[in-house]
Amino acid sequence: MSVSDNITSHLFTTSPFRVMDKLPNPIGLLCGLAAVALGQILVVAYFHVYRNVYGNARLVQNDDLHVNPKTRYAFAKEAIAHFAQLEGFVLLGSYLSVTWLANWMPASYYRWEGGVQWHLVVLQLLLQDMLQYFAHYAEHKVSATFYRYSHKPHHRFTNPKLFDAFNGSLLDTLCMILIPLYTTANLVHCNVWSYMAFGTIYSSMLTLIHSEYVHPWDDLFRLLGVGTAADHHVHHKQFVYNYGHIFTYWDRIFGTYRCPDDVRTFTKSTKKVQ
Ligand SMILES: *[C@@H]1O[C@H](CO)[C@@H](O)[C@H](O)[C@H]1NC(C)=O
Ligand SMILES: [Zn+2]
Ligand SMILES: [Zn+2]
Repeated sequence: MSVSDNITSHLFTTSPFRVMDKLPNPIGLLCGLAAVALGQILVVAYFHVYRNVYGNARLVQNDDLHVNPKTRYAFAKEAIAHFAQLEGFVLLGSYLSVTWLANWMPASYYRWEGGVQWHLVVLQLLLQDMLQYFAHYAEHKVSATFYRYSHKPHHRFTNPKLFDAFNGSLLDTLCMILIPLYTTANLVHCNVWSYMAFGTIYSSMLTLIHSEYVHPWDDLFRLLGVGTAADHHVHHKQFVYNYGHIFTYWDRIFGTYRCPDDVRTFTKSTKKVQ
């Protein structure tokens, strides 16, 4: 070993940055954050075209037609506020970073081999939605005080728009999203690709179901029992139905499902209202 090698290794082992050697490779984390961000950008881009360019989109709720849906809010301003949402992305980003860098994720999450394991992605979505269903139900039912501080802020929207998706409270995000996420991660051991796919689909779906417009694929989603904007609007309007978000399975199993067609003020799926 040469003198210079010795000096280098000495500097390295005593450097305060040595602790960084022990951090998990952040590439997986950065790819995950980028995937979620890209998913959100695509959702907002699609929604811009569908709402502002296509111009023939059907509203979910038609009881306040005295408000012109197109001038109800300034799209660009709401889009910017959406990405700056503290309760959603800042808290979620911190959760993802801390659990990754502190090595709190199961070992499989740090592996790249095998590509996207789609069966595990579906399993994560089902489990996450079930845990979120119970957390959501508990927030509504356990105590009036808990409800007021956790979930009530999100319920100020009785006719939500897409950009209201992550407008709630920190406690709500913690109970309904982060605790279920960590539980799901510890029960489903998938690789980093599958985690990225799950996270991107999950965050995109949570955004899409708040849309004030019926999406072009919602008839298909309803057929499959996947959550639609109308399903989630029923919850915002009537509070005691449709606690699930990504799927309607848990509501159907536990008897809390209500079809949007049965709500008088909702646009029926066959009727076109501009
Ligand atoms: C949440 O929604 C309320 C009511 O529409 C709005 O005043 C507030 O600015 C929103 N918060 C964020 C961070 O967008
Ligand atoms: Zn909601
Ligand atoms: Zn609720």
